[in-house]
Amino acid sequence: MSDLRIKAHRRGKRVNLRVDGRPITAYSGETVFAALLAEGIKALRHASKDKTKTARGGFCGMGVCQECRVTIDGMPDRRACMTAVCEGMEVVTDGR
Ligand code: FES
Repeated sequence: MSDLRIKAHRRGKRVNLRVDGRPITAYSGETVFAALLAEGIKALRHASKDKTKTARGGFCGMGVCQECRVTIDGMPDRRACMTAVCEGMEVVTDGR
């Protein structure tokens, strides 16, 4: 998957994190949600009350919808859109 970031935009320092065991590169100042989207990772979890277990992903990007919840550094239900990337961060989605 190619990087979906706008090429001409100035970026912060490179930050390495792992998503579902896969290394990805993000940039300081980005949220986890932005980094995931830039990598083409949209399905973050599955609907818990829906028998079809529909794939879910972030919607609002501003901390309201709760659809971007992932496990970050072992802490479940962290909102990816409200969490800044950090070097060495481990992100686990339920969207695989
Ligand atoms: S995308 Fe809505 S709370 Fe994160």
